[in-house]
Amino acid sequence: MQTINRLNTLKQAVEDLRQSGTVALVPTMGALHAGHVALVRRARELADHVVVSIFVNPTQFGPNEDLARYPRDLAADQALLAAEGAALIWAPDAAEMYPAGFATSVAVEVLSANYCGAVRPGHFAGVATVVLKLFNQVRPNFAVFGEKDWQQLAVIRRMVQDLNLTLPCVENIVGVPIVREEDGLALSSRNAYLSAADRRVAGQLNALMRRAIAQIETGDEVRAALTDLENALLAAGFASVDYAALADAESLAPLGALTGSPARLLVAARIGTTRLIDNMPVAAG
Ligand code: PAJ
Repeated sequence: MQTINRLNTLKQAVEDLRQSGTVALVPTMGALHAGHVALVRRARELADHVVVSIFVNPTQFGPNEDLARYPRDLAADQALLAAEGAALIWAPDAAEMYPAGFATSVAVEVLSANYCGAVRPGHFAGVATVVLKLFNQVRPNFAVFGEKDWQQLAVIRRMVQDLNLTLPCVENIVGVPIVREEDGLALSSRNAYLSAADRRVAGQLNALMRRAIAQIETGDEVRAALTDLENALLAAGFASVDYAALADAESLAPLGALTGSPARLLVAARIGTTRLIDNMPVAAG
């Protein structure tokens, strides 16, 4: 397994891989955990070769966010990816990704407007731009993303469709279910920020979401169930709730009631300065 950090070296290495089969890309920001590993394993099922990108993308972090303290451990990531059979790590630095004079941004409107997009202005433009660059750099047949970031997955699918991308095509943007801890907490590189006390609070997020989903699925008014959920999260020790929303699973349009189409409960809440997100399916009404 090679680790490459120059674009001109990457081009040749990817070309070599393509000579002997298909390529799946798993974009990451490193500090890899079992959630990322599930993506790599899915990628290995889909394609002959797996390329994992590790790039803490500055343009998707807001000015007051955690870019500087975001966990980084390339040596551990390399060991883990070698054991998982990845062919290549693409780990450019910021100057290689965004050379002087860089001026382009991809905005996926509508889908980026609500939820994380409303709380983190510019975040999804940063994600879409870097993911489009990664697609053009690696030209993978498949790209694998986690459902953990449900809105991100919807934004990327929309971009691929809207811009008529073929490497990868929209059918080959593959989502992988969320990998969770035993108490339901979704694995996240940011969980490393949590103190033991915060971690106990965090463990209640998913249980409270499941309770709200049960209420909605048995016919409780959606608005009331969401308000109950917000109050329960605050009572459990969360400092604030960025959003707790029921959305159409694909268009992400906010829903005041079940419609018969697949729906998703989307939540972001903060413990101290750590922001946690989670989402789960809600059975169609
Ligand atoms: P990062 O947060 O490192 O996540 C990389 C991928 O792993 C994403 O597709 C994310 O949804 C997935 N993932 C994270 N935790 C997961 C879990 N518990 N279960 C399943 N999948 C999980 O998302 C990003 O990086 C960046 O925005 C990126 C797409 C790389 C663009 O910079």
